[in-house]
Amino acid sequence: MAAPAPRRDDAPEPSFADLLAQRPALSTDALAGLMMEEVPLARIAQAVGTPTWVYSAGTLRRRARALCDALREAGLDATVHFATKSNPNLAVVALLAGEGLGADVVSEGELRAARAAGVPASGIVFSGVGKTEREMRLAIAEDILQLNLESAEEAEMLDALARSLGRRARVALRVNPDVDARTHAKITTGLTENKFGVPIALAPALYARLCAMEGLEVVGLATHIGSQITQGVSSYAAAYARLGSLVRELRAQGLPVERVDCGGGLGIPYRDEIPASPAALAGTIKAGLGDAGVKLMLEPGRWIAGPAGVLLSRVVIEKQSAGRRFVILDAAMNDLLRPAMYEAWHGILPVSPAAFHAPQTPADVVGPVCESSDTFAKGRNLPALPPASLVAFLDAGAYGASMSSTYNARPLAAEVMVNGSDWSVVRERQGYEQLLAGQRIPGWITRPGEAR
Ligand code: LLP
Repeated sequence: MAAPAPRRDDAPEPSFADLLAQRPALSTDALAGLMMEEVPLARIAQAVGTPTWVYSAGTLRRRARALCDALREAGLDATVHFATKSNPNLAVVALLAGEGLGADVVSEGELRAARAAGVPASGIVFSGVGKTEREMRLAIAEDILQLNLESAEEAEMLDALARSLGRRARVALRVNPDVDARTHAKITTGLTENKFGVPIALAPALYARLCAMEGLEVVGLATHIGSQITQGVSSYAAAYARLGSLVRELRAQGLPVERVDCGGGLGIPYRDEIPASPAALAGTIKAGLGDAGVKLMLEPGRWIAGPAGVLLSRVVIEKQSAGRRFVILDAAMNDLLRPAMYEAWHGILPVSPAAFHAPQTPADVVGPVCESSDTFAKGRNLPALPPASLVAFLDAGAYGASMSSTYNARPLAAEVMVNGSDWSVVRERQGYEQLLAGQRIPGWITRPGEAR
């Protein structure tokens, strides 16, 4: 088992001011309350309703540029492919494509989203352990940059399909370097016990086999060791050193290795974590692979999109029960799943200017879904939040909307993007008609009041 990232539950919670200081797109205005860029969040809630995801275009741009700059400044020949799973909203992907980012996709839906957002096929990488034949067919038809293969079985399937179509599919072999990313066990991927990639010891023989397959054009290697990596760069360093030796070994066998996809995983501070910087990551890539003579690729999701988004929600009601204070919101685990699924900590800020400086008492912040796991925070210090007060969950731009469901028949929330003083709805709130659409009651089910 991977050791979970150490939790610092005993460390004092960051104050509202601490949280704001670290998040340049957010500020408080004495009259308008919490703002994203130049737009009061209350205005968006008023116009669009709640719950609503709100993304900062400025933050997305700034972070995409910071990452690309760090790679360039380290002298690396690298391309960045945004992990679409973290936020597949078309406006987000299109904005990042405009910054020159490609896309990392893991399904037909994500491939279609990336293309619809304007990502060129030549910038798309298809990852994932279970690509279906239909997905492979689409990837071949679109002539995407590469498919990252996860097993010999998958290679054989793709080879046969490509040959039957008279094509060659560009592929990289995803290697599992067996390093512990020291993150949450549910999001570590680079250990032998995980389902991802092929064990590094078996890679040389398999790579040679792949190179002999007529339907494949083998372009290199890929890896991804885990997500929300916050314990420095040592896990990355170990993985890239292993990949570097593998590149040399394959080349010594006369096999071509043009590029290495270094995966994603760079963590962000949700609470008080101090993750490595893009510059530190770039330096680590350089140390492991800089002299391997390969083109490099990166597949970050969270680092770019996470800090760019908030989830806006309204208080339905507060209740006191058995000495505990419960703040019940109109957002729930079906919207933001991370606290229920990973016990993730997200900052929660009140939106109203008065609430920002009001006295605080501990509260359990919960949603209305009928599960105890529908709890966003326990014992969080918050001011009094009368019904209809607004709160914002921070760092909800990655694995937020993308992990939502309609559990409890709750429609998917709206999504908005702020750009300076301007803002636009980038996904309408799902309507109840859409929620029920596509379902059928067969004629052989007798409804109440109908004759049997
Ligand atoms: N590449 C591959 C092959 C991946 O599997 C992932 C994420 C990424 C790139 C992007 O990783 P990132 O840079 O975003 O860490 N739902 C979880 C995270 C799951 C990550 C899955 N794979 C969460 O909310 O924390």
